[in-house]
Amino acid sequence: MPEEICNLHRLEYFYADFNDLNGPIPTGIFNLSTLIELVLNFNHLIGNLPSKIGDQLPNLNYLDLSWNNFSGVIPVSIGNCSRLSFLHLGHNQFINTIPKSLGNLEYLHFLTSLTNCKSLKVLIVAENPLNGIIPNTIGNLSSSLQKFYASVANITGPIPREIGNLSSLITVSLEDNQLSGGIPSSMQQLRNLQLLSLDQNKIGGNLDSLCQLHKLSGLFLDENQVSGTIPNCFGNITSLRNLYLRENLLTSTIPMSLWNLKDLIVFNLASNSFNGSLPPEIGNLKATITIDLSGNHISGAIPNTLGALLNLQNLSFANNQLEGSLPESLGNMVSLTSLNLSHNYLSGLIPKSLEAISSLQVFDVSSNYLVGEIPSGGCFRNFTSKSFISNAALCGDPRFEVPPCKISKKHRLYGKKLVSLILILAAIFILVIVALACIFLVYLRKIKVPSPQDVPVVASMERISYYELLHATNQLGESNLLGSGSFGSVYKGILNDGKVVAIKVFNLQLEGSLRHFDAECKVLCNLRHRNLVKVISSCSNQDFKALVLVYMPNGSLETWLYSHHLFLNMSKRLNIMIDVAYALQYLHQEYLTPVIHCDLKPSNILLDENLVGHVSDFGITKFLRMDESSALTKTLATIGYIAPEYGREGLVSKACDVFSYGILLMEVFTAKRPNDESFGENLSLKSWVRDSMSDSIVEVIDPKLFREERSYSHELIPGCVSMIMEVALNCVCESPKERLTISEIVDSLKKIERRYISFHRHGGIQL
Ligand SMILES: *[C@@H]1O[C@H](CO)[C@@H](O)[C@H](O)[C@H]1NC(C)=O
Ligand SMILES: *[C@@H]1O[C@H](CO)[C@@H](O)[C@H](O)[C@H]1NC(C)=O
Ligand SMILES: *[C@@H]1O[C@H](CO)[C@@H](O)[C@H](O)[C@H]1NC(C)=O
Ligand SMILES: *[C@@H]1O[C@H](CO)[C@@H](O)[C@H](O)[C@H]1NC(C)=O
Ligand SMILES: *[C@@H]1O[C@H](CO)[C@@H](O)[C@H](O)[C@H]1NC(C)=O
Ligand SMILES: *[C@@H]1O[C@H](CO)[C@@H](O)[C@H](O)[C@H]1NC(C)=O
Ligand SMILES: *[C@@H]1O[C@H](CO)[C@@H](O)[C@H](O)[C@H]1NC(C)=O
Repeated sequence: MPEEICNLHRLEYFYADFNDLNGPIPTGIFNLSTLIELVLNFNHLIGNLPSKIGDQLPNLNYLDLSWNNFSGVIPVSIGNCSRLSFLHLGHNQFINTIPKSLGNLEYLHFLTSLTNCKSLKVLIVAENPLNGIIPNTIGNLSSSLQKFYASVANITGPIPREIGNLSSLITVSLEDNQLSGGIPSSMQQLRNLQLLSLDQNKIGGNLDSLCQLHKLSGLFLDENQVSGTIPNCFGNITSLRNLYLRENLLTSTIPMSLWNLKDLIVFNLASNSFNGSLPPEIGNLKATITIDLSGNHISGAIPNTLGALLNLQNLSFANNQLEGSLPESLGNMVSLTSLNLSHNYLSGLIPKSLEAISSLQVFDVSSNYLVGEIPSGGCFRNFTSKSFISNAALCGDPRFEVPPCKISKKHRLYGKKLVSLILILAAIFILVIVALACIFLVYLRKIKVPSPQDVPVVASMERISYYELLHATNQLGESNLLGSGSFGSVYKGILNDGKVVAIKVFNLQLEGSLRHFDAECKVLCNLRHRNLVKVISSCSNQDFKALVLVYMPNGSLETWLYSHHLFLNMSKRLNIMIDVAYALQYLHQEYLTPVIHCDLKPSNILLDENLVGHVSDFGITKFLRMDESSALTKTLATIGYIAPEYGREGLVSKACDVFSYGILLMEVFTAKRPNDESFGENLSLKSWVRDSMSDSIVEVIDPKLFREERSYSHELIPGCVSMIMEVALNCVCESPKERLTISEIVDSLKKIERRYISFHRHGGIQL
């Protein structure tokens, strides 16, 4: 790092994060008394902080030295930086004091000195070999402190009860230390707390003091010594998404109220002493992706309702006392990748329905009392004998190291019945096909076959004959229908050269479809952009109008948002929305005259094989004239996405698209449609998002987004979504003039994306 920067007197802001800087930090930098922000995170810098740092940098407001190799004592004079609001020293080699004698622990003195910084909001000292005890003076830290991270820092002793005075705290992260004692009852005053992470400590006591934390979304208490029961009141913490209580000393039954937490994502109670049985209400945990109850004393049968958990990926009931048979409904859990039921008293057959779970990779039913044939199709093809050892009387494929199954008389009879059933079904099927074919022939006759010269094909496009098109569309008939709309239908087709295409056929009987075709043709035939659907050819004569488009194998954004088994993570969603913004930027600003799409919504965003977003459906697109900034139209777009002035007066402008884009942004990250019934009359997607911006952003976020990981990304997501929602809210202002322009949107989203990705990659915790 060059010494010269130390000559820049009056320097106020110095940022050099992510720069591969190495070597010692020039000490002169701490003499720049005018510095307000100093940001050097993610470099390879070494050196100590000067003992008088607080007096040398009295104006310092923001200090980020994280992810370097700084060492030495954190000077107590840091508290003399009285304007400090953000202090991140995480992931270095800082210590608390030079130890006077071995094993003699001291209080973290720098924490006491920081009580002088009255506007401290974020304090991060995680991942440093601090060695020390949290002093009681922690209660005198700034009352606006929101985030306190001190994980992996060799902290011992109890959590002082004075922590309850820090009423603005949102995050407390102290995992992987040697904290002892209980969770202080004063913590119930931390009404804003969203994340409490105390994994891997020696925390004892019980969970009663967490009842009042109605904003808690993540509770991480794995590997501690917490005892007693889970209090009933936990069912009232509806914001809870991640509940980790693995390896504690908890007892009794799991309270019924807990099964009401329908947005819970991870539910891990493994290795405790829970008893009682599983109620059918376990089927309420619809959003859950992991349930781990292994290593407890749970008895009774596995409820049938489990099959309703379509998002569940990992399920373990291993090492309990479950009995009865495996419900057939388990085969409905389409997202399951791991199912562990080993070491129980389960009996009966292994349901064949499980073969259908194509995602299932890990399967263990060993050490039970199961009997009968091991299914051998579907996902069972990949399982080995290990999955099935120590059971009562399993039989089947020699691969599983079990005896072959004897086919009993009853089975043979059953077999015969099955054969006749199949024959009957096949006959019915053939009849249906014949009937369909007849209907189809009648339909074909109705279309007048035009002479080839009637078919003008747009120049510069591929030449595809009408017959080829008709053939391509009809090859597989209705089974190839991709969708239909107010204009006609879209089919998947295969051209003579084998190319798979989407063919949009306009039903000329339908009112407006001609106009729709013309508009769409005008856009697609003239405009080319990576994020617009590409047209291969068009076909137009009096009776038949069609567009041949590049086929988008991943369907529409709408499908991805609302399907159980498809999942787009944070960065994919952000990427797609940036793609859409690029397309609009092109339409609004880079074509000869401004083009207004007028009908942006998730079903009009198509995704190619790489999940790149393409804007489609230009049926009601308006071309403004060079000198126009708005135009009047009578065509109405989709309710919910439409800007107020467009709805009222039919006035379309670039700002209308921006409005729809804002609604789309909200929908993509909340997975709530603007016309969702739950909004009723007095609420809308817009007001719901706006009202939650200040403190309950977690509640509006699509719970599926938290599927990614625990710990830091769990933290990153709310921050990232709130930045995105801020952009969205600036797109949906009542007055068109106040809305952002599409270029401003592109810039903001790119910035958010860059930060998200780099922080995600480096395991950062603060956006
Ligand atoms: C903080 O500043 C005060 C006043 O300037 C000074 O007396 C004190 O010694 C400083 N504290 C430290 C720890 O340097
Ligand atoms: C916190 O500050 C108050 C008032 O400044 C003081 O009376 C109290 O002793 C301090 N508490 C601790 C634990 O230092
Ligand atoms: C700080 O916490 C202590 C102990 O929990 C309590 O007695 C005191 O009233 C609190 N002070 C403030 C200002 O909240
Ligand atoms: C949950 O909240 C409801 C309504 O606020 C209250 O009536 C009920 O007693 C609470 N349940 C528990 C177990 O705290
Ligand atoms: C569950 O455990 C608790 C406490 O250990 C005990 O009092 C209770 O009887 C047990 N219940 C069942 C159903 O075994
Ligand atoms: C789910 O199970 C698989 C296979 O055992 C494992 O690789 C994966 O980490 C588990 N995921 C979670 C979230 O526990
Ligand atoms: C079996 O495992 C392989 C590789 O792990 C995977 O590609 C394949 O899809 C699996 N087959 C089934 C039927 O699950």
